[in-house]
Amino acid sequence: MSGWVASAENMQRLLESAKEARFRAYAPYSGFRVGAAIMCSDGNVYPGSNIENASYGLSVCAERNAVAAMIQGGCRFPLAIAVAGEGVEPCYPCGACRQVLAEFNPDITVVLEKQGRPVSFSLGELLPLGFSLPKP
Ligand code: THU
Repeated sequence: MSGWVASAENMQRLLESAKEARFRAYAPYSGFRVGAAIMCSDGNVYPGSNIENASYGLSVCAERNAVAAMIQGGCRFPLAIAVAGEGVEPCYPCGACRQVLAEFNPDITVVLEKQGRPVSFSLGELLPLGFSLPKP
C-alpha cells in the first residue's frame, strides 16, 4: 500500500481496530485503557495497548507498543495511527509517543475520536520542531 486517505470510512475502520486493541489493555493502576492501531505501508494494521507496571514508570503507552508490533512485523513506514482512550474527548498521544512516531514518519496521520466522531491531525501539527539529530 503506497498511500492511505483519511476518508471517513478509513478513519472509522482504523479507530475500530484501536478500540479492539483497547480490550487488551493492561491498566490496573490508572484504570485508563488505551488502544492504538497503525496502518502501515505494507497494508497491515499493527495494534498496541497500554501495558502498566507496579513500578509505575515502566508503563508503556499503547502507541509505542503499536510501533513495537509494526517493527516486529517488518514494516517501518506507518501511514496512519488511530488512538482510542476512554471518555468522549480525544486521547492525544503523549509527547514521548509523538517523538517515537516522528522517528518513522513525521507526517503520519493521527486519527482520534471526539464526541463519537473521527478527527485527524498530521503529526507535524502535534509535534512541531521535534528533535532530530543534525545531518552529518
Ligand atoms: N496512555 C497511553 O497509552 N497513550 C496515551 O496517549 C496517553 C496515556 C496510557 C499511559 C498510562 O497507562 C495511562 O494511559 C494513564 O496515563
